[in-house]
Amino acid sequence: AKTRQRLVIGNWKMNGSLAANEVLLKGIREGVENATAPVNCTIAVCPSFPYLGQVSQALADSPVSWGAQDVSLQESGAFTGEVSATMLNDFNCTWVLVGHSERRALHGETSEQVALKAQAALAHNITPVVCVGETLQDREQEKTLAVIQAQLAPVLALGEQAVNKMVIAYEPVWAIGTGLTASPEQAQEVHAYIRAQLNTVGAGNVQVLYGGSVKAANAASLFAMSDIDGALVGGAALVAEEFLNIATA
Ligand code: G3P
Repeated sequence: AKTRQRLVIGNWKMNGSLAANEVLLKGIREGVENATAPVNCTIAVCPSFPYLGQVSQALADSPVSWGAQDVSLQESGAFTGEVSATMLNDFNCTWVLVGHSERRALHGETSEQVALKAQAALAHNITPVVCVGETLQDREQEKTLAVIQAQLAPVLALGEQAVNKMVIAYEPVWAIGTGLTASPEQAQEVHAYIRAQLNTVGAGNVQVLYGGSVKAANAASLFAMSDIDGALVGGAALVAEEFLNIATA
């Protein structure tokens, strides 16, 4: 049996509004608090920066935690548009996503920068959720594991103590927002590889989440895999009932 705590995080991406978030947060909070069976899973949501205040108020004293979608690797100063880990502390963020494929692809984030962001988060007691994943082209060229290894290398170089405080999310780029979920076996193969990599620095018990078109209908078969410890959910996290059904799958 897996001893690692199950974790399901909703990545809202650039979606939401004060009004829509209010409905979604109420639905999630009430769903968790009124669940007939205990929800045996850590649940969190990651809204866009401007809504962290709203989310922290709506979820205060609830079992649901929250985080941000990115963090600056800088502490403070002349970095227009950036948000620091200290600022995330002001809003009691438990988590922060780093290196999401959309940031790597659209903002040119390198694996070295991602590792520095993870380090900045840890320095402020925020758990970084380090995202890795291959493109369709990488997979077709049988480069999946090499790409994952290269993305993880600067992160693993931070050392055992640091890595043991992280969460890793495997998100195959071809499965994100496409409806093409990796099969449980495809995902497990990469998760086992990630765990072997983590093991090389003595961090083999870190939680490894799967992301990419996770829905209530496919969550249970993914969670049944020995190295899949939960999910990072995009589109399906925007509907309270669907999100909760993933968390209870
Ligand atoms: O970070 C979660 C994500 O990239 C997956 O998105 O919409 O395929 O669940 P989605």
